[in-house]
Amino acid sequence: MARTTGTDRTTGTGPTAPGAPGTPDGLPKGFRGAELGWPELRRIPHPSHRLPLAGDVLGADVRRPLQDAVRLGRMLGPVYRRKVFRREFVFVWGSRYVADLADESRFAKHVGLGVANLRPVAGDGLFTAYNHEPNWQLAHDVLAPGFSREAMSGYHPLMLDVAERLLDRWDAEEVAGRTVDVPADMTKLTLETIARTGFGHDFGSFERSRPHPFVTAMVGTLTHAQRRNAVPGPLAPLLLRAAARRNADDIALLERTVDAVVAARRDAGGTGATGDLLDRMLDTVHPGTGERLAPDNVRRQVITFLVAGHETTSGALSFALYYLARHPEIAARARAEVDAVWGDTPRPDYAQVARLRYVRRVLDESLRLWPTAPAFAREAREDTVLAGEHPMRRGAWALVLTPMLHRDPEVWGPDAERFDPERFEAAAVRARPAHTFKPFGTGARACIGRQFALHEAMLVLGLLLRRYEFRADPAYRLRVAERLTLMPEGLRVELERRPTTSTPMTTPMTISTASPPDETEASAPRRPVRGTGE
Ligand code: HEM
Repeated sequence: MARTTGTDRTTGTGPTAPGAPGTPDGLPKGFRGAELGWPELRRIPHPSHRLPLAGDVLGADVRRPLQDAVRLGRMLGPVYRRKVFRREFVFVWGSRYVADLADESRFAKHVGLGVANLRPVAGDGLFTAYNHEPNWQLAHDVLAPGFSREAMSGYHPLMLDVAERLLDRWDAEEVAGRTVDVPADMTKLTLETIARTGFGHDFGSFERSRPHPFVTAMVGTLTHAQRRNAVPGPLAPLLLRAAARRNADDIALLERTVDAVVAARRDAGGTGATGDLLDRMLDTVHPGTGERLAPDNVRRQVITFLVAGHETTSGALSFALYYLARHPEIAARARAEVDAVWGDTPRPDYAQVARLRYVRRVLDESLRLWPTAPAFAREAREDTVLAGEHPMRRGAWALVLTPMLHRDPEVWGPDAERFDPERFEAAAVRARPAHTFKPFGTGARACIGRQFALHEAMLVLGLLLRRYEFRADPAYRLRVAERLTLMPEGLRVELERRPTTSTPMTTPMTISTASPPDETEASAPRRPVRGTGE
């Protein structure tokens, strides 16, 4: 069982009550600026042309703050700082420094500004909880078994059902000669997948021509949390008044939606039948303490899992499809692997998914270039010196820029921008230093849903590769939209149905398709999925 040690009393990033708006200047309670935490801050480079009051805002792109930070990272090097009005931030991307920040004995997750801005909606839910909040450990221990191999193999048939609805939809688009809207359809797929596997709920996304209101409200909330970082605290009430009202409406809709999901489970004759995430949230007693999650915490966990459980996977699938459409030779090789491993099985089983080694490399390489949760923050548990160079006081923190870490030429070479799944060939992975690939974060607070996301994404990519050839619009240039997460904007792909979906392998392959030895569990019975509702 992973435990975080309490950084609460030590760091000053202390408790904000769930939903609390923060300090009067608009900063999350306990926010500690870099000026206080980094005694030798002046040694860290910042952009030239710093303005007296506004700081380093010249040329800033408020709609794409991550890509802005990446641009500055290229100019300023592996550790740099930036001042936005009164707040100074330290950004880190050099692999040596990130490896040091990954040392759990000296550093822990910091609930940074973007994440802290989500506390009004997610409170002390698993993702947004401060390390010291008791509900983090309780929820972690109660929910971690929901991501065991056994639980995952139980989700597999439901994942397949959802993926088949996507195939039906794409078949119809292909017959009609229409291109498909990749991010929109991947969002439908991943929302339905987490809703059904985790909560026995059907949002009816594939029957809708527009996104489900839950998705619209979620995008609104994420975008609002991101925007709040760019607005000076004292001006936020004025500049974001209308936006704050809309955000309150969005949060209310998210809460109504999850309350309905929970009520439906209770109405359906109680809980405990399937051991899905909702059952675990409602029923499971902590083995050590005998505690359960309180009802208001269940609500925050359901929102957390519905959002965290689909938004990033949807982006990861979309970027992977972008690269597959752009690189027909890589798609052909991946397709040959699917044909070889799955043969003519209409519904691949759980174990057959993990055997798609090359498809996994395609996914990893997409997550390298575009890790869809593109930053995470780390704080010092004690006074320390980052990589022997930069003193940090207890509670000082830095934002790790994952897309830049994943492009560090010292690790990934001079061609780090090039899409090349071979970087994830086993020997190449072994040859790289630790902590250089971090799309799922690090340490005790790393992503709990990693295996879920990987299984779902590989299953869907396998099914799509087996069914279609993808053609990218040659005029399309990748634009990346940001709402704390990343998504390829406006990506449409043309499909061509393959003559057969079970062609035996004809392309010579050099990759191993040997199956891992222990992936043969049968699917556990699941609770039937109940009807829609918003
Ligand atoms: C490709 C897909 C995904 C990516 C890239 C991703 C990325 C991440 C990252 C980077 C973190 C750490 C954030 C931090 O340190 O502040 C995280 C945490 C988390 N993720 Fe994911 N995630 C993905 C899919 C999922 C899925 C499918 C679920 C749920 C089913 C999920 C649930 C969570 C939760 C609950 C946390 C908080 C864990 C904790 O603090 O204990 N994620 N994720």
